[in-house]
Amino acid sequence: MKILTAPSIFAADLANMEKEVRRTELSGADLIHFDIMDGVYVPNMSFGFDMLKAIRKLTQLPIDAHMMTVHPEMYIQRLSECGADIVTVHNDIAPEEQIKGMLESINSYGMMAGIALKPKVPAEAVLPFIDCVDMILVMTVEPGFSGQKFMDMSDKIREIKKYIGSRNISIEVDGGIKAETAPICAEAGANVFVIGSAAYAAPSMKDAVENVRSTAAAAYPG
Ligand code: DX5
Ligand code: ZN
Repeated sequence: MKILTAPSIFAADLANMEKEVRRTELSGADLIHFDIMDGVYVPNMSFGFDMLKAIRKLTQLPIDAHMMTVHPEMYIQRLSECGADIVTVHNDIAPEEQIKGMLESINSYGMMAGIALKPKVPAEAVLPFIDCVDMILVMTVEPGFSGQKFMDMSDKIREIKKYIGSRNISIEVDGGIKAETAPICAEAGANVFVIGSAAYAAPSMKDAVENVRSTAAAAYPG
Protein backbone atom coordinates (compact mmCIF):
# COMPACT_ATOMS: atom_id res chain seq x y z
CA MET A 1 0.00 0.00 0.00
CA LYS A 2 1.09 3.56 -0.64
CA ILE A 3 2.38 5.57 2.34
CA LEU A 4 0.11 8.62 2.79
CA THR A 5 0.42 11.61 5.11
CA ALA A 6 -2.72 13.29 6.44
CA PRO A 7 -2.19 16.47 8.48
CA SER A 8 -5.02 16.94 11.00
CA ILE A 9 -6.28 20.46 10.37
CA PHE A 10 -7.81 20.55 13.86
CA ALA A 11 -4.25 21.18 15.12
CA ALA A 12 -3.72 24.13 12.76
CA ASP A 13 -3.91 27.83 13.55
CA LEU A 14 -7.68 28.13 13.26
CA ALA A 15 -7.55 31.91 13.01
CA ASN A 16 -5.73 31.50 9.68
CA MET A 17 -7.46 28.64 7.94
CA GLU A 18 -6.66 29.67 4.38
CA LYS A 19 -2.97 30.08 5.18
CA GLU A 20 -2.97 26.72 6.98
CA VAL A 21 -4.56 24.94 4.03
CA ARG A 22 -1.87 26.43 1.74
CA ARG A 23 0.83 25.34 4.20
CA THR A 24 -0.69 21.85 4.19
CA GLU A 25 -0.57 21.71 0.38
CA LEU A 26 3.00 22.99 0.29
CA SER A 27 4.06 20.39 2.85
CA GLY A 28 3.47 17.69 0.24
CA ALA A 29 0.71 16.04 2.28
CA ASP A 30 -1.56 13.55 0.51
CA LEU A 31 -4.80 14.15 2.44
CA ILE A 32 -6.34 16.63 4.84
CA HIS A 33 -7.60 14.87 7.95
CA PHE A 34 -10.77 16.62 9.16
CA ASP A 35 -11.96 15.83 12.70
CA ILE A 36 -15.68 16.16 13.39
CA MET A 37 -16.60 15.95 17.11
CA ASP A 38 -20.10 16.30 18.50
CA GLY A 39 -19.36 16.87 22.18
CA VAL A 40 -21.14 13.58 22.98
CA TYR A 41 -19.01 10.77 21.54
CA VAL A 42 -15.96 12.68 22.77
CA PRO A 43 -15.78 15.48 25.36
CA ASN A 44 -14.91 18.12 22.78
CA MET A 45 -16.31 19.82 19.68
CA SER A 46 -14.54 20.70 16.48
CA PHE A 47 -15.71 21.47 12.96
CA GLY A 48 -18.99 21.25 11.08
CA PHE A 49 -20.23 21.26 7.49
CA ASP A 50 -19.58 24.91 6.70
CA MET A 51 -15.92 24.59 7.61
CA LEU A 52 -15.70 21.43 5.48
CA LYS A 53 -17.21 23.31 2.54
CA ALA A 54 -14.86 26.25 3.08
CA ILE A 55 -11.80 24.00 3.07
CA ARG A 56 -13.11 22.13 0.02
CA LYS A 57 -13.21 25.46 -1.84
CA LEU A 58 -9.58 26.13 -0.96
CA THR A 59 -7.97 22.85 -2.04
CA GLN A 60 -8.15 19.82 -4.30
CA LEU A 61 -6.52 17.59 -1.67
CA PRO A 62 -8.74 14.66 -0.67
CA ILE A 63 -10.50 15.29 2.65
CA ASP A 64 -10.52 12.50 5.21
CA ALA A 65 -13.45 13.06 7.59
CA HIS A 66 -13.04 11.40 10.99
CA MET A 67 -16.49 11.22 12.58
CA MET A 68 -16.26 11.29 16.36
CA THR A 69 -20.02 11.54 16.60
CA VAL A 70 -22.80 9.28 17.85
CA HIS A 71 -25.03 9.64 14.76
CA PRO A 72 -22.87 9.96 11.64
CA GLU A 73 -25.59 8.13 9.66
CA MET A 74 -27.66 11.33 9.74
CA TYR A 75 -25.03 13.25 7.81
CA ILE A 76 -23.53 11.00 5.15
CA GLN A 77 -25.20 12.72 2.19
CA ARG A 78 -24.26 16.12 3.60
CA LEU A 79 -20.64 15.10 4.06
CA SER A 80 -20.53 14.11 0.41
CA GLU A 81 -22.19 17.37 -0.71
CA CYS A 82 -19.70 19.37 1.35
CA GLY A 83 -16.73 17.63 -0.25
CA ALA A 84 -15.54 14.75 1.94
CA ASP A 85 -13.68 11.99 0.09
CA ILE A 86 -13.25 9.51 2.93
CA VAL A 87 -15.65 9.10 5.87
CA THR A 88 -14.63 7.09 8.92
CA VAL A 89 -17.04 6.10 11.69
CA HIS A 90 -16.24 4.50 15.04
CA ASN A 91 -17.20 0.85 15.55
CA ASP A 92 -18.84 1.31 18.96
CA ILE A 93 -21.60 3.80 18.13
CA ALA A 94 -24.27 1.36 16.93
CA PRO A 95 -25.01 -2.35 16.45
CA GLU A 96 -23.00 -4.16 13.77
CA GLU A 97 -25.74 -4.25 11.12
CA GLN A 98 -26.30 -0.50 11.43
CA ILE A 99 -22.60 0.22 11.09
CA LYS A 100 -22.51 -1.95 7.96
CA GLY A 101 -25.39 0.08 6.56
CA MET A 102 -23.47 3.31 7.23
CA LEU A 103 -20.36 1.99 5.48
CA GLU A 104 -22.41 0.93 2.45
CA SER A 105 -24.14 4.27 2.39
CA ILE A 106 -20.76 6.10 2.48
CA ASN A 107 -19.62 4.05 -0.53
CA SER A 108 -22.92 4.63 -2.31
CA TYR A 109 -22.14 8.38 -2.34
CA GLY A 110 -18.82 7.63 -4.01
CA MET A 111 -16.76 8.20 -0.86
CA MET A 112 -14.34 5.77 0.73
CA ALA A 113 -15.49 4.21 4.00
CA GLY A 114 -13.44 3.70 7.13
CA ILE A 115 -13.98 2.08 10.50
CA ALA A 116 -12.17 3.52 13.55
CA LEU A 117 -11.14 1.74 16.75
CA LYS A 118 -10.39 3.50 20.03
CA PRO A 119 -7.27 2.29 21.87
CA LYS A 120 -9.20 -0.11 24.13
CA VAL A 121 -11.15 -1.75 21.28
CA PRO A 122 -9.54 -5.06 20.23
CA ALA A 123 -8.43 -5.87 16.68
CA GLU A 124 -11.21 -8.50 16.23
CA ALA A 125 -13.76 -5.68 16.25
CA VAL A 126 -12.93 -5.00 12.58
CA LEU A 127 -13.82 -8.52 11.42
CA PRO A 128 -17.54 -7.93 10.76
CA PHE A 129 -16.67 -4.92 8.59
CA ILE A 130 -13.62 -6.18 6.77
CA ASP A 131 -15.45 -6.58 3.46
CA CYS A 132 -17.18 -3.17 3.69
CA VAL A 133 -14.22 -0.85 4.35
CA ASP A 134 -11.50 0.90 2.40
CA MET A 135 -9.62 1.96 5.53
CA ILE A 136 -9.21 0.95 9.17
CA LEU A 137 -8.28 3.74 11.59
CA VAL A 138 -6.36 2.60 14.64
CA MET A 139 -6.45 5.39 17.23
CA THR A 140 -3.13 5.84 19.00
CA VAL A 141 -4.64 8.23 21.57
CA GLU A 142 -8.10 8.49 23.12
CA PRO A 143 -10.05 10.54 20.57
CA GLY A 144 -11.00 14.13 21.36
CA PHE A 145 -7.85 16.22 21.54
CA SER A 146 -4.68 17.01 19.64
CA GLY A 147 -1.30 16.98 21.32
CA GLN A 148 -1.71 13.84 23.44
CA LYS A 149 0.94 11.22 24.07
CA PHE A 150 1.25 8.38 21.54
CA MET A 151 0.07 4.92 22.63
CA ASP A 152 1.81 1.98 20.99
CA MET A 153 -0.85 -0.04 19.13
CA SER A 154 1.58 -2.06 17.01
CA ASP A 155 0.30 -5.48 18.17
CA LYS A 156 -3.23 -4.46 17.23
CA ILE A 157 -2.07 -3.14 13.86
CA ARG A 158 -0.21 -6.40 13.15
CA GLU A 159 -3.32 -8.43 13.93
CA ILE A 160 -5.49 -6.23 11.73
CA LYS A 161 -2.95 -6.52 8.90
CA LYS A 162 -3.31 -10.31 9.15
CA TYR A 163 -7.11 -10.08 8.94
CA ILE A 164 -6.83 -7.80 5.89
CA GLY A 165 -4.73 -10.37 4.00
CA SER A 166 -4.70 -9.49 0.31
CA ARG A 167 -7.62 -7.04 0.49
CA ASN A 168 -6.98 -3.47 -0.65
CA ILE A 169 -7.51 -1.80 2.76
CA SER A 170 -5.36 0.96 4.25
CA ILE A 171 -4.47 1.11 7.93
CA GLU A 172 -4.47 4.67 9.27
CA VAL A 173 -3.02 5.76 12.61
CA ASP A 174 -4.11 8.91 14.44
CA GLY A 175 -2.74 10.47 17.62
CA GLY A 176 0.76 11.48 18.64
CA ILE A 177 2.21 10.63 15.23
CA LYS A 178 5.64 12.15 14.45
CA ALA A 179 8.92 10.94 12.96
CA GLU A 180 9.72 8.95 16.14
CA THR A 181 6.37 7.15 16.41
CA ALA A 182 5.35 6.70 12.76
CA PRO A 183 7.88 3.91 12.07
CA ILE A 184 6.57 1.89 15.04
CA CYS A 185 3.16 1.88 13.34
CA ALA A 186 4.55 1.46 9.81
CA GLU A 187 6.61 -1.56 10.76
CA ALA A 188 3.41 -3.20 12.03
CA GLY A 189 1.57 -2.41 8.78
CA ALA A 190 0.09 1.11 8.99
CA ASN A 191 0.33 3.15 5.78
CA VAL A 192 -1.74 6.33 6.43
CA PHE A 193 -0.34 8.77 8.99
CA VAL A 194 -2.44 11.51 10.58
CA ILE A 195 -0.17 14.25 11.91
CA GLY A 196 -1.65 16.98 14.07
CA SER A 197 0.51 19.04 16.41
CA ALA A 198 3.75 17.52 15.09
CA ALA A 199 2.95 19.01 11.67
CA TYR A 200 1.37 22.39 12.42
CA ALA A 201 3.53 23.30 15.44
CA ALA A 202 6.79 22.33 13.74
CA PRO A 203 9.19 25.09 12.66
CA SER A 204 8.94 23.61 9.14
CA MET A 205 5.72 21.76 8.42
CA LYS A 206 7.21 20.48 5.17
CA ASP A 207 10.17 18.88 6.99
CA ALA A 208 7.86 17.42 9.64
CA VAL A 209 5.58 15.81 7.04
CA GLU A 210 8.50 14.60 4.93
CA ASN A 211 10.18 13.08 8.00
CA VAL A 212 7.06 11.14 8.89
CA ARG A 213 6.78 9.92 5.31
CA SER A 214 10.42 8.87 5.00
CA THR A 215 10.76 7.22 8.42
CA ALA A 216 7.48 5.38 7.84
CA ALA A 217 8.45 4.30 4.32
CA ALA A 218 11.76 2.92 5.60
CA ALA A 219 9.95 0.84 8.23
CA TYR A 220 6.98 -0.32 6.13
CA PRO A 221 7.22 -3.97 5.16
CA GLY A 222 5.60 -3.46 1.74
C1 DX5 B 1 -7.84 13.32 18.07
C2 DX5 B 1 -7.97 13.55 16.61
C3 DX5 B 1 -6.66 13.71 15.90
C4 DX5 B 1 -5.80 14.85 16.40
C5 DX5 B 1 -4.38 14.42 16.17
O1 DX5 B 1 -9.06 12.89 18.52
O2 DX5 B 1 -8.64 12.47 15.99
O3 DX5 B 1 -6.81 13.73 14.49
O4 DX5 B 1 -6.05 16.10 15.78
O5 DX5 B 1 -3.52 15.32 16.75
P1 DX5 B 1 -2.06 14.90 17.26
O6 DX5 B 1 -1.29 14.39 16.05
O7 DX5 B 1 -1.51 16.17 17.81
O8 DX5 B 1 -2.21 13.82 18.30
ZN1 ZN C 1 -8.70 12.29 13.82
